[in-house]
This record gives sequence, C-alpha cells and structure tokens, in this order.
Amino acid sequence: MMREPRPDRPSICDYEGSNYRTEFWENQGRDYEDRVERAVLRRLMPERGRRLLEIGAGFGRLTAEYLKSYDQIVLLDYSFSQLEYARDQLGAGSKFIYVAADAYALPFKPAQFDGVSMIRTIHHMANVQLALQQVARVMTDGGVFMLEHANKQNFKAMTRYALKRQSWSPYTREPYEFVELNFVFHPQYMVDALEQHGFAIERRVPISWFRLGALKRVIPAGTLAALDTVLQYSGLLLTPSIFVRSSKLPAGGPTAQSIDVSADPINLFVCPESGGPLTREGDVLYSPKSGLRWAIRDGIFDFKVPLNET
Ligand SMILES: C[S@@+](CC[C@H](N)C(=O)[O-])C[C@H]1O[C@@H](n2cnc3c(N)ncnc32)[C@H](O)[C@@H]1O
Repeated sequence: MMREPRPDRPSICDYEGSNYRTEFWENQGRDYEDRVERAVLRRLMPERGRRLLEIGAGFGRLTAEYLKSYDQIVLLDYSFSQLEYARDQLGAGSKFIYVAADAYALPFKPAQFDGVSMIRTIHHMANVQLALQQVARVMTDGGVFMLEHANKQNFKAMTRYALKRQSWSPYTREPYEFVELNFVFHPQYMVDALEQHGFAIERRVPISWFRLGALKRVIPAGTLAALDTVLQYSGLLLTPSIFVRSSKLPAGGPTAQSIDVSADPINLFVCPESGGPLTREGDVLYSPKSGLRWAIRDGIFDFKVPLNET
C-alpha cells in the first residue's frame, strides 16, 4: 500500500490495514526466520538500557525481546492499525509508548533514546540518509543502534547474476529497488551511511543462511536456526539479511544518564512539522509554533495527519 508523499518527504510503504501478521508470519513457514532474528537480537542487545525506540515496530512481533534489557520501549510505526494490534497484545502502561509517525520526521526531542532498533524496515526506505539522520538526532551519545537490512550481495543474487538470470549487479554500491519501495543494499553502502551519521560499527551478523522453501519444509526450524547461528560466526556477508550493531559516537551531547523513564511521555515529543514544543489539551497535543493539533487516540500518539487536516 502506498501513501501519497508530502511534497517535502519521501514516499512511505504504508502497512495501514494490511494483513502483514497473518499473511506473512503466522503459519506462513517463517518460523525459522523469526527464531533467528530473535536470537541475534538477544545477542546484540546491550545488557542494560533505559529507553528503546523501535522504528517500524509493526504489530510488535519482536517487542517483547527488548524487555529483557530496556526499561521502556517506544513502538513507532506509520501504520496505526499495526500499533493497535501491538497495544492490544502488550497492553498500555508506562513500559510501552505507541507512536504513529513517519520515520523520516520523528516527533521526538533530541537525545531521548539510548537504544534504537529498526528491523525489516529500512528496506522500505528510498532515502536512507534522511532516515539515519533522524535516528542519530534522537539518540544519546553512546546509544546502541540495532539495524537489520536486506543484502543485495547475497548468494542467490550472485548466482543468478553469474548465470545471467538477473540483470542487476549484486556488487555495485547503490541500493536496488526490486519492487516499488522495496530495496536491497550493499553491506558497504550501509556501513558508509551509518558512519556518515556518526555511528561506529561494532558488529555485523549475516543471518538467514537457509531461506529456502525446500530446506525449510524438511528440516525443523529449531535445527536450521541452530545451524544458522554457527554460520553467522563465519562473518561472511553473503546472506539475504544482515544485522548491524553500531553505537553513536560521543559528540558532547547527553548520555543515557539523562533519560528519565518515569517522566510524563508528553516530554518526549515535538511537533514533527515544526520541531517546536507541544502542550497537552486533554487528548490533543498542540504546537503553538505550527498551530497544528495532534490526536492521542486509544493510547496511541497519532502524528500521521494533524487534526487540522482531518
Ligand atoms: C516489514 S514490516 C516490519 C515490522 C517489524 N519490524 C517486524 O520485523 O515484524 C515494516 C514496517 O515498517 C513500517 N514503515 C515503513 N515505512 C515507514 C516509515 N516511513 N515510517 C514509519 N514506519 C514505516 C511499516 O508500516 C511496517 O509496519
């Protein structure tokens, strides 16, 4: 589903109302991928953290994993309906904050998060630079960023290219859009982009070595996931998916110590259009700078379309 972009913003691959959970994950033969992603996240996560921003949280498939380390998790997605499902599963309360917003215009003050994750999401982004600039802005110095990206230089693409069954080269640095708003990235492209935005690469983990229907049908998901873990240690970045753990280099900004998870969540936000502060009037957030009003609907902070435009 595509949303018409604001004139100054890249297009969004909008999952509003989609059946992503039931048509992609549940009973769809992806138990192996799900297990591998959870396991690698657990390995990459710092032992302790304060507030994590999960960008492209979707229906909250992976959110529970972050609870082991982080005191508070902010689930952000452009799809209100995905967040509604997540909220119904995880519940309201101070541990979870739900935010419907565009990753290209995060509605947060600077340095609010000592952790950010972005799994299976950046492959929908035509403007990686803008997305990473936003991530860097909202992170504290030393904060940990866990990013998963689709890898264009994978075995399958390399084989198909060699056999001339694929026209695009898996070796060139630029992202390749194989379906509208679905991109694959060269591993070095992503490293360069992260470094440009002030991140230091700590670890890269190639995952999903066995993403083949034939194998998945005959070998149990748990066995494949265990074998996957072994191969991950090879460090060979030739799989369809790569996890990157990086940290925001100190730049004289606030550190994790500045984060107070007991504070009113309203203190996190700014108006995504003007960057100005917001005041709360019941279930509405008001920006004196832009004159825009944003709704809080059923426990979800809705920064998609201002009330002024609805
Ligand atoms: C493939 S799903 C992944 C969901 C979740 N991370 C997971 O792995 O189960 C991608 C998610 O990214 C969200 N998304 C895509 N572009 C976005 C943007 N510009 N801002 C916020 N969310 C976005 C979609 O709405 C969707 O829920």
